Amino acid sequence: MFGKKKSVVGLDIGSSSIKVAEVVRDRTGDRLVNYGISEPLSEAIVDGEIMDRQMVHEAITNLMESRQIRNKQVVTAVSGRAVIVKKILMDRLTEEDAKEAIQWEAEQHVPYDINDVSLDFQIINPNVDAKKMQVLLVAAKKDMIANHADIVREAGLQPAIIDVDSFAIQNAVEANYDLAPGETVALLNIGAEITNLNIVRDQVPHFTKDLSVGSNSFVENIQRRHNVSQSDALSALRGLSGGDIDVESIVQATCEDLSTQIDRAVAYLRSAGDAERIDRILVSGGSARVPGLADFLGQRHQVPVDVVIPVSKLSMEPGLFNGESPETVAPILTVAIGLALR
Ligand SMILES: Nc1ncnc2c1ncn2[C@@H]1O[C@H](COP(=O)(O)OP(=O)(O)OP(=O)(O)O)[C@@H](O)[C@H]1O
Ligand SMILES: [Mg+2]
Repeated sequence: MFGKKKSVVGLDIGSSSIKVAEVVRDRTGDRLVNYGISEPLSEAIVDGEIMDRQMVHEAITNLMESRQIRNKQVVTAVSGRAVIVKKILMDRLTEEDAKEAIQWEAEQHVPYDINDVSLDFQIINPNVDAKKMQVLLVAAKKDMIANHADIVREAGLQPAIIDVDSFAIQNAVEANYDLAPGETVALLNIGAEITNLNIVRDQVPHFTKDLSVGSNSFVENIQRRHNVSQSDALSALRGLSGGDIDVESIVQATCEDLSTQIDRAVAYLRSAGDAERIDRILVSGGSARVPGLADFLGQRHQVPVDVVIPVSKLSMEPGLFNGESPETVAPILTVAIGLALR
């Protein structure tokens, strides 16, 4: 109808903070109208498991209230070891028949009891050859999804869609960047506990995995090497203070872990005949701006590295960033914005 506006709220429940973004879609396109980042949630979420439910649901409630977001329907996402995304080959079937067969196929690819996971799939290439088709399989542990949905409901909201972090990141990037056809791009969303790695070409996620590296690893290594408190290590990491702490060298040593896993992913893609190399790295998440990180990755992998600004093509409510630069704030909002763009 004339003048009809649709609001979508993306809610990213991270282990270090909650992020929210609201996008309004009308005839003129998508516009970011609101966003928020909660106070740090220390120890409330450990290894993807919610330890302190009260703290998390209060943080969500406070964030929604302080940002005056009225839409209670939210799009949210899960991540971590309990989520498995895999590109598989299976016999050519219709979408309908594949729904039945996917259960059996998944058993070979998912390291959990198949009755404990929710399955979803998408046919990405219906005719690889006369017999086979390529399918993107997504499996997530049911109890983790239920837990996630419960927390959202306890905060008085309705989880309209539960997506996967890596797909939200891809969505945010595709909406804001013109990726060249045939270009293989590694999307690296570096948070506090995990890094979502998603290697994408022509809108297809070719390799998707959550790695246990994040700013917590940087902080722990700074603490270990310099014998300082966690809060001193954190402010050194943010470049606020640090005295004689050589943040860059510690970050580089820690990033080597990440790079090894990227190398392994590329080797896997090469052996599968999917890609010879990556052409570009796009980093997002709260840790994207950690000193020395982007430079290290660029040198190590010999590719251009850019920090994702997930609002670079979006229109925005005037004054939304309130004097702060979107370049600094927005990378941490990549998941939330990707969800809100659904
Ligand atoms: N300006 C900054 N400079 C350096 N590091 C920063 C900055 N801002 C945030 N961080 C780091 O980013 C981390 C948070 O990133 P993010 O919000 O993406 O993680 P998360 O989604 O909460 O965690 P996860 O997804 O791993 O559960 C913080 O732990 C902090 O150390
Ligand atoms: Mg995160």
